[in-house]
Amino acid sequence: GGAHATRQHDSAHKHVTGSADYIDDMPEPAGTLHGYLGLSDRAHAKITSLDLDAVRAADGVIAVLTAADVPGSNDISPSGRNDEPVLATGTVLFHGQPVFAVIAESREKARRAAKKAVFCYEDLPHVTDVRAAMDANYPLVTDPLKLERGDIEAGLAGSPRRLQGEMRIGGQDHFYLEGHIAFAIPGEDDEVTVWSSTQHPSEVQHMVAHALGTVSNAVTVQVRRMGGGFGGKETQSNQFAAIAAIAAKKLNRAVKIRPDRDDDMIITGKRHDFVVDYDVGYDDSGVIHALDASFAARCGFSSDLSGPVTDRALFHADNCYFYQDVRLVSKPMMTNTVSNTAFRGFGGPQGMLGGERIIEEIAYALGRDPLEIRKANFYGGPGRDITPYHQTVKDNIIARVVEELETSSDYQARRAGIIAFNETSPVVRRGIALTPVKFGISFTATWYNQAGALVHVYQDGSIHLNHGGTEMGQGLNTKVAQVLAEEFQVDLDTIRITATTTGKVPNTSATAASSGTDLNGMAAANAAQQIKTRLVAFAAEKFNIPEDQVAFEPNHVRVGNELMPFGDFIKLAYQERVQLSAAGFYKTPDIHWDRASGKGRPFYYFAYGAAVSEVSVDTLTGEYQVDRVDVLHDAGKSLNPALDIGQIEGAFVQGMGWLTTEELWWDDKGRLRTHAPSTYKIPLASDRPKIFNVKLADWAENREPTIRRSKAVGEPPFMLPISVLEALGMAVASIADYQVSPQLDAPATPERVLMAVERLKAMV
Ligand code: MTE
Ligand code: MOS
Repeated sequence: GGAHATRQHDSAHKHVTGSADYIDDMPEPAGTLHGYLGLSDRAHAKITSLDLDAVRAADGVIAVLTAADVPGSNDISPSGRNDEPVLATGTVLFHGQPVFAVIAESREKARRAAKKAVFCYEDLPHVTDVRAAMDANYPLVTDPLKLERGDIEAGLAGSPRRLQGEMRIGGQDHFYLEGHIAFAIPGEDDEVTVWSSTQHPSEVQHMVAHALGTVSNAVTVQVRRMGGGFGGKETQSNQFAAIAAIAAKKLNRAVKIRPDRDDDMIITGKRHDFVVDYDVGYDDSGVIHALDASFAARCGFSSDLSGPVTDRALFHADNCYFYQDVRLVSKPMMTNTVSNTAFRGFGGPQGMLGGERIIEEIAYALGRDPLEIRKANFYGGPGRDITPYHQTVKDNIIARVVEELETSSDYQARRAGIIAFNETSPVVRRGIALTPVKFGISFTATWYNQAGALVHVYQDGSIHLNHGGTEMGQGLNTKVAQVLAEEFQVDLDTIRITATTTGKVPNTSATAASSGTDLNGMAAANAAQQIKTRLVAFAAEKFNIPEDQVAFEPNHVRVGNELMPFGDFIKLAYQERVQLSAAGFYKTPDIHWDRASGKGRPFYYFAYGAAVSEVSVDTLTGEYQVDRVDVLHDAGKSLNPALDIGQIEGAFVQGMGWLTTEELWWDDKGRLRTHAPSTYKIPLASDRPKIFNVKLADWAENREPTIRRSKAVGEPPFMLPISVLEALGMAVASIADYQVSPQLDAPATPERVLMAVERLKAMV
């Protein structure tokens, strides 16, 4: 068996020793060519002429492709709005937009040649900032969403207290270790196989087919693993795959495209920056009566996934809190920047951070610990469990999670100690905060909540596992293999995990929304059950016993009184012509969502968690460190505690980077100036919390019948480090004796912390 057990990631050893194969490690067929993309160097401009003669004439160049060379449709928009060209024509909409592709004998030759292009432009006005886009009346890239319940005007007017504010929230680069890559090998007729570092092989397949002007059955997309995706490979792989496939078919040679890190950061979308405007009514005990808030996002030049991302921001603005009267609206703003995309949490973190800022503001206005305000607003109690999208919260465990963490982390005594410390410490100030998380699980596009698996049992009893999900380091394959091993009661190493391919499991959804195990684990279990049903019927008939006397036991099958090794039993079944292969399927039950009315049950369940973070800040420089973090997180009945804790630790540090050091910066020409690790700072090993206690709520269990009652874990813990931002805010607020809200925007870089310190110093 193997479910609910700590198992090492199936590739852990290979990751550490460097023997795990990524696409760039594949042996290249003779004659493989390499692509490099030519980018616009204007944020918004008409291309009046483009001279590529010198590029074509350059050493080693085999072909130069422009939009005119796209045989099918020049569009890779995943939203169906036809607003994202493979290669731009006419007008460029952001600085760094791909306009042509050079295909040459080597990457280096292609790269050198691309620089020889001569562009002439007629500049157009551009906007890169969210607020500037709103001020300029820039268009929305997609329809906005409104969630509404109760009477917001009356609610606000009738509240004893009221405050308004604005929060700015920065974006984030995915910084996966393996960058984007596509490797296309042409086949007969219109066929092509593409190895793509993608979370969404089916979409790459469809996009390649459209761009080639052919049908999906001509295109096969494969991926064994990604060196990280984090949402950055949900749609952003399409462009590289489409161009590689077009070149491969045109030249009838293998073509690989792997942008270098700077180009990867410039060409591909990131987490959306947000500006949150809020107007909240509350009372003297901190209970929120009414909230009116808007969430404007830097979407970039096209829609991509900005609709569902900004929707998810609204779905999480409530976090764990009940709002009596509420109106939340999204503003998916077009900007002349790269088109922003999915990133762990998918807009949820930005929405939740806006909600937590409001809690913090109320706490400072009342002179109370923000934790008290949180508790006063938790969902629960009569009539207080309905979300702004009219879903009833039925599985709420946040009060227990917070209570246990408050005790185990010794929160109250430590907070009192920190306040005492700050009174006598002139330079170094400390802060502590406890913040909760409630995250909705399911794709809000209901049809994505389906999955397939293909399971073969071979004559020697070894098992081949394939499913529609993709492995990006999160351990999905290990978990699905555990589920299958438990179904057949065989050792985990009986199961071979195979590369994801559109040829084995079709019409898959992106591995996203943290749903990989929920969906694919169920599909694999379904496939196993089909095979087992056949095997039981066969054994009952063959040995003339009732079906309930056939049982799968560790590495054996019990047939009446006889215990047969699994392999022997399978051999027998094969000889008796039992079908030993099955395609499994699963779709999530009981979910529905009507976007037009803003009502439904978009989430099958919620995952919960909480964190306490303690920081110290040097108030002369703004520098800080995270001294201690305690986490209690709900993974339901965990399928694999080691992998789940790894996800929590990784998500925490990645979320901490988003809220502290990772800053994206565009200059006045619309150029992204933070496109390499020299200027863009992800957390280092030394930034890890000095003490880091991560625990699973081992009593938790999913009330819904998910796979072995587990819960999704990939994204929810990303929001736990909101506690780090708030702890930094408390350290800053100590300057003004906690009487003034610190209003730290994200990322709270040392510069921004210092500015907040200076602002408060000027006030006292
Ligand atoms: N963990 C690792 N190591 N690498 C990743 O790229 N992506 C995250 C999360 N954890 C990611 C990760 C994101 S954005 C999602 S949606 C989930 O994993 C996807 O996988 P799952 O559905 O199997 O949890
Ligand atoms: Mo994750 S942002 O849903 O790929």
